[in-house]
Amino acid sequence: MLAVLSNSSSIVSKIRDLARKRNAVILAHNYQRGDVQDAADYLGDSLELSQNAARINTDVIVFCGVHFMAETASILSPDKVVLTPDEDAGCRMADMISVDRLRSLKSTHPDATVVSYVNSTAAVKAESDVCCTSANAVEVIASIEAPEIIFVPDKYLAAYVQTKVSRKIIPWSGYCPTHVKILPEDVQRQKQLHPAAKVIVHPECTPPVIALADDVLSTGGMCKYASRSSAAEIIVGTEIGLLHRLRKENPDKVFYAASDRAVCPNMKTITLPKLLWALQEKKTEVKVPETIRIKAKEALDRMLEVS
Ligand code: 13P
Ligand code: SF4
Repeated sequence: MLAVLSNSSSIVSKIRDLARKRNAVILAHNYQRGDVQDAADYLGDSLELSQNAARINTDVIVFCGVHFMAETASILSPDKVVLTPDEDAGCRMADMISVDRLRSLKSTHPDATVVSYVNSTAAVKAESDVCCTSANAVEVIASIEAPEIIFVPDKYLAAYVQTKVSRKIIPWSGYCPTHVKILPEDVQRQKQLHPAAKVIVHPECTPPVIALADDVLSTGGMCKYASRSSAAEIIVGTEIGLLHRLRKENPDKVFYAASDRAVCPNMKTITLPKLLWALQEKKTEVKVPETIRIKAKEALDRMLEVS
């Protein structure tokens, strides 16, 4: 145990030294492994990290998250070198929609405004009018005046937003394979075990899970909720990586995973050795072709203006 501890603390100090030397900032999503979260400069949800990427002043951004997150950073900050410690860390939901399929859906609804969830490729964003994240989806969609809205790729986020806005949403049929593992029975079991606990869930969960929640929040929203809430116990319906941050920031509160099966394997492929390697080798750079980047940035900028 001691050997493991000193090993990981020496790798963290190498990472921190090299980040300083390279003038690099390390951004990490809330689902990253606990030790990767602890080595980062900034933690956040997709919106907070993209806002950070847009204003950060370093030469290099090392993005510990899935591929679309690093791509978003590169779209917003093209003059910076954006690195991913694992180029195979993709988002399975983002892969459920392609540009061709989106174009064909658009052709059947020519007057619709196209909203793409930020969990999508740069090419899909470039085919969209505006992006959104789980933190601002309701706000972004409520700001649209078109009678119809195409929403890709998450059908469950679309269904949740549809309960909050009157305009017709035409959803794509994608979903998050991690969040669908959280079942209503899991939440009910945890509620029976911990009757005083509040329940917070991510809007990528299915409608029967959302129906059992006290609040539906992005991962950043969950962190704010936990720090402000007077509840001593909270059941958390999202990827279990968030529990590390919630427990660290709120040592006086108790957090329960709605389901231990909610693990995103791609988020977990990034490790401290890979993060060190990325800084040492300045790899792997994520870069979006300029024609796609400019259009995708317009969709992201519209979102950032609304937020
Ligand atoms: P957040 O933006 O809420 O962190 O969600 C990102 C994500 O990938 C959820 O599965
Ligand atoms: Fe994508 Fe789901 Fe993993 Fe989030 S948890 S990155 S939506 S596969």
